[in-house]
Amino acid sequence: MKENISIELKNVEGFISQEEIMALAKKSTLHLDTLNAGTGQGSDFLGWLSLPEDIIAQFDDIEECARQLRSLSDTTVVIGIGGSYLGAKAVIEALGNSVPGNSNDHTVLFAGHTICEDYLAELLEVVDKKNYSIVVISKSGTTTEPAIAFRVLKNHLESKLGKAEAAKRIVAITDAKRGALRSLATANGYKTFVIPDNVGGRFSVLTPVGLLPIALSGFNIREIVQGAQVMESITRNNKDAAANPALIYAATRNLLLDAGKSTEIFVGFTPKLHFLAEWWKQLYGESEGKEGKGIFPAAVDFTTDLHSMGQYIQEGQRIIFETFLSVTTASKKVGIPMEKDDADQLNYLAGKRLTEVNHNAETGTILAHNDGGVPVIRIKVPELSGYHVGQLIYFFEIACAISGYILDVNPFDQPGVEAYKKNMFALLNKPGFEEAAKKIRERLN
Ligand code: PA5
Repeated sequence: MKENISIELKNVEGFISQEEIMALAKKSTLHLDTLNAGTGQGSDFLGWLSLPEDIIAQFDDIEECARQLRSLSDTTVVIGIGGSYLGAKAVIEALGNSVPGNSNDHTVLFAGHTICEDYLAELLEVVDKKNYSIVVISKSGTTTEPAIAFRVLKNHLESKLGKAEAAKRIVAITDAKRGALRSLATANGYKTFVIPDNVGGRFSVLTPVGLLPIALSGFNIREIVQGAQVMESITRNNKDAAANPALIYAATRNLLLDAGKSTEIFVGFTPKLHFLAEWWKQLYGESEGKEGKGIFPAAVDFTTDLHSMGQYIQEGQRIIFETFLSVTTASKKVGIPMEKDDADQLNYLAGKRLTEVNHNAETGTILAHNDGGVPVIRIKVPELSGYHVGQLIYFFEIACAISGYILDVNPFDQPGVEAYKKNMFALLNKPGFEEAAKKIRERLN
């Protein structure tokens, strides 16, 4: 049997007590009841709770679609933003090759997560020379950033291959009925997958939103979902608070918030975790940051950022706690060689693997940050496999929901995201925004 991810709390003990953590974790079992009964805030968006079982019926279709696109093309551009982008990107980066250019596998590129003109121009320069497909993802089907990228890339692909041929290589993942993307897909006969009504964007990685791009990249989606299933069995109905890492994590971070630690920094010691941290930031930032509440989610890559952000974390404002994702084993080996003259004075490390050095850097950092007033939650991950990444996805999702309920907010909405959109639409003279445009121009003059 594979080892599960686990949580270690000894480095929060100088700041909050085990008794406090256990008391809040036990109290929070009521939030598990609320989630399972669907009686809490945002209960229309609880479909993600049972995705590890519900998605199994779609495995064949997703894998077949990935096979088709891989046989037709060598590259796929995945278009999406926020929850329609970050989950797939996180998993592909965690499981894939860290250094670009060392893979003969199907290449997955991303678009629609930025409006940067240079980015799209440079992407077009690349795909112009490639044999590519497009997967366009938008639950609402109306989000501006991916809609612009899709219009540009669709025109490019159609001018390269003709409309009919391009349509065979375009897959749309969107709402079952609503939105411009659904209408476009129907009109052009694109292959489609549905994002269920009851699954919000940032909780959708275990739907085709995440799983199709992951399968296109050549990773085993069944293994990822299996990991999520195991985590569901450990957390969803487990009222034994001490054995439920989601309750423990949610309780600990909220107690730290109450103790004045209002910023949580997600720490990884491998660049492979960079986008898992971005996904986590979105999950917690959009779920909790509302009504003047919430922990500010930030992220660093160590040891890289120990040479930049490390100073602030060690000695800046004492409002920080860290959540370390500690990966026990690396999948590849590099040893440090012995050199006769020891000119660089590294012979004391000769014979050691880089992972041993990295682990010592990690332990040294935890101790230093603890001494500097920074509590550290440690989430131990046996290895960065699909199975364990699947566990992490479900773990962070359910802990986020519990944590949102502890804060007494709706973890499944994001009303604040509309504010910038309204201004942008008014400034761009979008029909229907005439009144707002008048007001905003007065403000700017
Ligand atoms: O979590 C969310 O709901 C958001 O981040 C959305 O995923 C994001 O805004 C993209 O929305 P859509 O998929 O409708 O284009």
